[in-house]
Amino acid sequence: MTLPHAASLPDHGLSHGLPNAHYTNADVISRENAAVLAGGWASIGFAKDVANKGDVAPVTFLEQPLMLVRGSDGNVRVFENVCRHRGMILVDQPTNFKGTIRCPYHSWCYAFDGKLRTTPHVGGPGIHTHADVDPAKLGLYEVRSAVWMDVVFVNLDRQAPAFEDFIRPVAERWHDFAERPLYHGGEESTFELEVNCNWKLAVENYCESYHLPWVHPALNEYSKLEDHYEIIDPDGNFSGQGTRVYSPNLGEPGRQFATFNDLPAAWDTAAEYISLFPNTLLGVHKDHTFAIRLEPLGPSKTREHVSIYYASEAMCDGEWGRMRQANAQMWRTVFNEDVFAVEGMQRGRNAGSFDGGALSPVMDMPTRVFHEWVAKKFADDRR
Ligand code: FES
Ligand SMILES: [Fe+2]
Repeated sequence: MTLPHAASLPDHGLSHGLPNAHYTNADVISRENAAVLAGGWASIGFAKDVANKGDVAPVTFLEQPLMLVRGSDGNVRVFENVCRHRGMILVDQPTNFKGTIRCPYHSWCYAFDGKLRTTPHVGGPGIHTHADVDPAKLGLYEVRSAVWMDVVFVNLDRQAPAFEDFIRPVAERWHDFAERPLYHGGEESTFELEVNCNWKLAVENYCESYHLPWVHPALNEYSKLEDHYEIIDPDGNFSGQGTRVYSPNLGEPGRQFATFNDLPAAWDTAAEYISLFPNTLLGVHKDHTFAIRLEPLGPSKTREHVSIYYASEAMCDGEWGRMRQANAQMWRTVFNEDVFAVEGMQRGRNAGSFDGGALSPVMDMPTRVFHEWVAKKFADDRR
């Protein structure tokens, strides 16, 4: 198979991965962040975090203060979390605003679509307008954003292709899931893991099933290495793996979550896991989906935010709480099993002679596709 942009990575007869500097050198990582995270469609949150109209949730991404806002029209938008007056942070914690977002400093107020609405005493005590302060020019700075499968994506540098074009191949592959409502399971269906590795290692590990027999013994009992297949986007924007055998035991025999309606029969036992570049990891099954957004906290620190969704509202009520808990616990265990591997690879990247490794042309191809994507974005950005 010919991969796109293969020339952009060193290849001496073996498939080498990205050089060590992309995991250890703060300057390279900072340039890479600009090219790959700010330059792509990166996930920064979940729409369920702003469930109600007027909900605003602050989020920091690449040190930029942003906020998710659920407008009066029900849509989620992303703005810079900064007041146009003197640059005050508008929101420090998730808040529901009635009518407008009020700056806590001098009370300038913004509508949920970002428009500046009121500027109290701006023209002197009791005078709330001034000819030099034009509200039409002082709305909140909006960030290019999109919501898909409840994940909120942003493109910070405004240079990425249209989101619809970026997402189309995976949206088509997963239209059975993506084109219907997903119901977040509630408190026990959200959890975080903090790992001591560069965010890319979490992507690379998620792409492949090669490590399954040694790292995930319980998973391997019902879904073996040979039951898996690789997934590679011809455009190189995502990669991953699928299994033909998905049948977890959640400890309540005979009890099964409702499945998504009218799924093709193949999904009865199949499941797929895709890394959507740069930083979003997704999984789909006949009865639930999950999304993981990787938040880079530093060159070798990443927070993984996990969010699990079900096929119907009924699966989210109290009666199903124990099953949801068991399902979340199963995934927590699986993701925890991966931690020693991604942290070990991070430490390994400090070895003086290692510089990218020897990727299997068969088992590591989804990982290779990710390295190629990063290498190309990095190289293009420097031109
Ligand atoms: S900084 Fe927001 S109103 Fe002054
Ligand atoms: Fe794993």
